[in-house]
Amino acid sequence: MQTLYDLPGLRAALEPMRGAGKLALVPTMGALHDGHMALVEEARRRVGPGGHVAVSIFVNPRQFGPNEDLAAYPRREAADARMLLAAGVDILWMPTAAVMYPAGFATNIAVGGISQGLDGAARPGHFDGVATVVTKLLNQVRPDVAIFGEKDYQQLAVIRRLVADLDMAIEIVGMPTQRAQDGLALSSRNAYLTDEERKAALALPRALGEAARQIEKGASVEAALAKAVATLANHGFGPIDYVTLCDAATLEPMTVLDRPARLLGAAKLGTTRLIDNIAVDPA
Ligand code: PAF
Repeated sequence: MQTLYDLPGLRAALEPMRGAGKLALVPTMGALHDGHMALVEEARRRVGPGGHVAVSIFVNPRQFGPNEDLAAYPRREAADARMLLAAGVDILWMPTAAVMYPAGFATNIAVGGISQGLDGAARPGHFDGVATVVTKLLNQVRPDVAIFGEKDYQQLAVIRRLVADLDMAIEIVGMPTQRAQDGLALSSRNAYLTDEERKAALALPRALGEAARQIEKGASVEAALAKAVATLANHGFGPIDYVTLCDAATLEPMTVLDRPARLLGAAKLGTTRLIDNIAVDPA
């Protein structure tokens, strides 16, 4: 595995790989867990024996709000590198903030519509930061395929929109959320939870799962969402940013289950903001 920190180095390392089979990119912010490693495994599967896998680790300051956890975000580059080496990754791309955003950097990518509700409303500027850095990462690596997790469902939808809108010839693959045995979605931010909070956190996937089952059985969407919100509040979550049923493709809010949908939730538990989502399908 070659680890690169600057663009000339990255370009030189990628050059011999181009044209020698497919190239896949897994963008991450590090603090890798089994969820990331499932993306890496899928990348390896998709490029096949002759192909190459690149993983980026960059904690992107532009996607954190002024009162968010940029300074506290877990950084474990040495352990991450060992995991990626063991997984057979070819390129580890670790730009510094000065490489990603050199003096004079003045461009912002804003994806309209799909990035405006949900986390876009709760975290102003977040998806501009994501869209800007993902556009740069895709331009830097120029992969054939890029893999993202469905845990960040709105992020995945925003990236699909931007890749289509900007005519990037890159296949975007969304991978199902990886969960701990008890059902909590794997996330680097789970490391912030105290033992007590870790137990209470289970209420999020459980409340979403229960609401999804009720809605699929024909219960009122409004009542099922209200019950999920009450369950979260009873388990110490707050503020609850949203628990919403949305069109699975456009993320427009839905009040009746008449097409494939996604139930998404985001709430704080102590100082940790957790998100999760689940498919809800009409019979
Ligand atoms: O999902 C993440 O880890 C980040 O939002 C991403 C896509 C790497 C962009 O910084």
